Amino acid sequence: MSDVRVFPDAEALSRAAAHELIDLGRQAVAARGRFAVALAGGSTPRRVYQLLADHEHRDQVEWTRVEFFWGDERAVSPDHPDSNYGMAAAACLAKLGLRPAQVHRIQAERPDREQAARDYQIEIARILGATPDGLPPTLDLILLGMGADGHTASLFPYTEALREERRHVVRNYVPKLQAERITLTFPIINRAREIRVIVTGAEKAPALKDVLDGPHDPERRPSQLLNPVAGRLAWLADRAAASELAREGCR
Ligand code: 6PG
Repeated sequence: MSDVRVFPDAEALSRAAAHELIDLGRQAVAARGRFAVALAGGSTPRRVYQLLADHEHRDQVEWTRVEFFWGDERAVSPDHPDSNYGMAAAACLAKLGLRPAQVHRIQAERPDREQAARDYQIEIARILGATPDGLPPTLDLILLGMGADGHTASLFPYTEALREERRHVVRNYVPKLQAERITLTFPIINRAREIRVIVTGAEKAPALKDVLDGPHDPERRPSQLLNPVAGRLAWLADRAAASELAREGCR
């Protein structure tokens, strides 16, 4: 049975997610002197990131010990309104007093996205002390969202990246968006110590039900491929997104 935590609304979920990121960060820094986290894109996490930078939370983590990565990025410049990096930078990173070297954005605006994906794989390995073509390095936390079609990161239904078994970061063309993305792959996502998926809104209820309670059909519902090798996976959903789940109760 998946670990599914249901919250009354998006604000309660965002607060819980921010607190969990802080707790996991403190634990990682205490245990290993560093917290390597891959941030989610999209709109759901914005409030989580805003909470990290507010006066109540800002001093709860040694942010200078945190290495920030992203789970995926759109093929836009960092200052574009659609940039996942840009959203997180505006919501919190710019307010945490970070050194630029701690922030590892995916350079998906580069025309050669194949090379940009390769370079990002090398960057992750470099920071985490792994060999670029070896086993995927272990991130402490990968924060993910989920789309109404059951995609996560930029691992969309029926796209090539779902079947990647070797590379940790790939370019992925998404026909429904008529756009290329760069995304972490399931091999590296599933090696994370902690995976948290944050899902809000009634429009995601059918997909969340399919992912958690439906038949195994990962091409159609890619989030079904979230399956940590040795880490922990938890789903944080608001009541609206969890409304079709065969589970009781909410936080
Ligand atoms: C992206 C995200 C993507 C996102 C889901 C949910 O780049 O779009 O990484 O996987 O998490 O699409 O997006 P919302 O939070 O906006 O619903």
